[in-house]
Parts: sequence; C-alpha cells; structure tokens
Amino acid sequence: MALDTLPTLRWGIVGTGMISSWFVSDLSLERQGKKAEHIIQAIGSSSTEKGRGFVEKHLKGKAPTVYGSYQDLYEDANVDILYIGTPHAFHKQNCLDAIRAGKHVLCEKAFALNSREAQQIFDEAKRQGVFVMEAMWTRFFPLVQQLRRVIHHDKVIGDIDRVFCDFAMPMNIKSLPPSSRLRNAALGAGSLLDIGIYSVTWAILALEAEPGQETPTILGTQRLHDGVDVATSVILSYPDGKQGLATCSTFTKTPSSFCRIEGSQGTVTVDGFAASAPAFFTVHAKDQEPQRYDFERPGKGFYWEADAVALDIAAGRMENELMPWSETLRIMRLMDDIRRQGGAKFPQDDEYC
Ligand SMILES: NC(=O)c1ccc[n+]([C@@H]2O[C@H](COP(=O)([O-])OP(=O)(O)OC[C@H]3O[C@@H](n4cnc5c(N)ncnc54)[C@H](OP(=O)(O)O)[C@@H]3O)[C@@H](O)[C@H]2O)c1
Repeated sequence: MALDTLPTLRWGIVGTGMISSWFVSDLSLERQGKKAEHIIQAIGSSSTEKGRGFVEKHLKGKAPTVYGSYQDLYEDANVDILYIGTPHAFHKQNCLDAIRAGKHVLCEKAFALNSREAQQIFDEAKRQGVFVMEAMWTRFFPLVQQLRRVIHHDKVIGDIDRVFCDFAMPMNIKSLPPSSRLRNAALGAGSLLDIGIYSVTWAILALEAEPGQETPTILGTQRLHDGVDVATSVILSYPDGKQGLATCSTFTKTPSSFCRIEGSQGTVTVDGFAASAPAFFTVHAKDQEPQRYDFERPGKGFYWEADAVALDIAAGRMENELMPWSETLRIMRLMDDIRRQGGAKFPQDDEYC
C-alpha cells in the first residue's frame, strides 16, 4: 500500500505507566513495511504534571494534548481510539467510559478481571457500534503467524499432541507496597492475569488449528500469598486427548526456551526473553537437521497489533479476526475457572464471574 494511502489513527493514551511508555515508543518508531500511520494525539493521566513528564520522556519532539483527567481525553474530538494502559481492575470502567464517548478501544491484557466484566464491555461496544480489542499483542507477531502455518498447515511435526509453556519472572511480591498493582487484589494482582495469560495463549495457539472450535477442560492449581496467586499451573485437556501444560511464577525466570510443542513427527521449541515476546523458533523434525526461524523486531513489537487495529477500523469492522471478542471471552472464562479451582479471588468477583 502506498504511504499516502495508509489508514491513519489518532491515539489517546489512558494512563502513563510502563506499558503506555512501551506502546507510544513503538508507535513512534521509523520502520519498514508499516500498514498504517499512528499519531499519538493526546495523553490522559491522573495529573497534567505526570502527563507532561511522560511526553518529555517518551515522546520527545512531539506535542500531544495532555489531560489531567481521563474523561477529558475520552471527549477529545481529535482522538479516534483509546489505548487503555491502566491496571486490569480499571479496564472495565475505562473501556465503558471511552465507548460511551463514542471512541474505539484497544485495551491491555488482561482485558478485564473476569468474564462478566468482559461481557459488559462487549455489550456496550455492540450498542455503540465501535471497534474494541484486547491488546494481546503476541498474537500479531509475524513469528506467531508463521509458527501456526508451519505446525497446523504444513504439519512439519505431524499431529500436535502436547505443549508446555512457562512464563516466570521474579517479582518479590511480598516486598511490594499494598499500592502496587502486582500486590493488591483490588487492583487485579496475580500471576495468572499478568503473565500466565501468555502461557495459556501459547497452549491454545499451538494445540488448536482453529482457535475456539474446541475448548479444553481445565485442571488448575495456584500458590497464594494474601489471596493473590504468586504461581499458577494449569493442565488444558482436550476431548481428543491433546494436553497443554501452562505455568507461571513470580519466583524465578524462565530460560530462553519457554515453549515446547510436541507432535507425532518431532518438536518445535520457541525462544525469547519471555512468552510475551518470542524471538525465534526451531523445528526439530524427526531425522532432519534442526531448522531455525528468525524474525526482525525493531523496538518491542506493539506496532503489529496497532496496524491490525487501524486496518480493521478503516474497513468498518468492530472486531479483529486474530483476537475476536469470543476469544477474549473464552480466555477470560478459562481464567475464571482456573481461579475458581486455585483460590485466587478479586473483591470485584461475583463468585468468579
Ligand atoms: N502487553 C504487555 O506486554 C504488558 C506488559 C506490562 C503490563 N501490561 C498490562 O498493562 C496494564 C498496566 O500495567 P503497567 O505495568 O504499565 O502498570 P503501571 O506501570 O503501574 O501503570 C499503570 C498506570 O495506570 C494509571 N492508574 C490509574 N489508576 C491507578 C491506580 N489506582 N494504581 C496504579 N496506576 C493507576 C497510572 O497512570 P496515570 O497516573 O498517568 O493515570 C499508572 O501509571 C496492566 O493491565 C498490565 O497487565 C501489558
């Protein structure tokens, strides 16, 4: 597509924490092969001082409008879409407010605290006729698309029957203040929604050729500290016998090789800094030399999901085919089920949904 015909999105950024800084930095990168233009139009923060500091640090040379209130940001007529980068406990209200102001929304994972909240957001989006997507960015990596072609279409390791995926990262949760989103259950704290969601996602992407056509039963266990899960292990069990083991922990660091996919004719290993940001995968097909697939990734890789969103909105779609509403709801329901079995509970839960 010629550069002057690329769709353009004017973004409003809700919250000025770590993820928002990564997102705006990535969208500001010069890069090859982009499919859309992204303008950081405005910033919404708990204070204008904090918002200005964010611009100074992460958007040098740019002059987005800075609001000291999220509502003022939602009402900015020059903003097309809101990127929600607040802790998960606020996603439902932030999304509902943005949608009711007539704005499209890209909301960070975990999309909400539970499936009931996620359903409320999609119901409102349907009423208002706006685009909404969970920002599960990893699904949009070219690596993930290629891996799925290789294992599900080309079947280079035969029939897939087992997958292991781990996302572990030391967080020393006990030492964090109660105001931390990683410590406080009322802010959505817990390893499952923060990092385990990626392990569950990899199990699903590797075991299901068509995500959502079959849904696994769940066997989950959690280690709790003050009611917050600091480690979670889940077995996803499919009617035809396929199994996934998805784990996460806040005590240790997963080695580079974070995922292993086993098939009747070999295995695939996936490597990277973490399950959220894969760097390469290696096919170990029976009786063949290992074949490694590497991928260019300037910055962190948030522009791939942003480009997909821009193309959807330009085409008048309300949801994305790689991360449709039904898939967000399915993953939220699986996580509700895991927490029901493991014991982690948010004060906002209504008996786990
Ligand atoms: N995709 C990924 O790889 C990835 C990585 C990390 C996090 N995330 C997701 O992004 C979301 C935010 O995580 P983060 O690590 O960026 O969090 P963070 O650094 O703590 O930032 C969250 C921001 O939300 C706003 N906020 C509003 N009410 C708040 C409250 N009561 N407590 C704390 N912050 C509040 C604050 O911005 P203002 O003061 O400016 O309003 C704050 O800076 C989470 O849902 C997380 O799961 C995704």
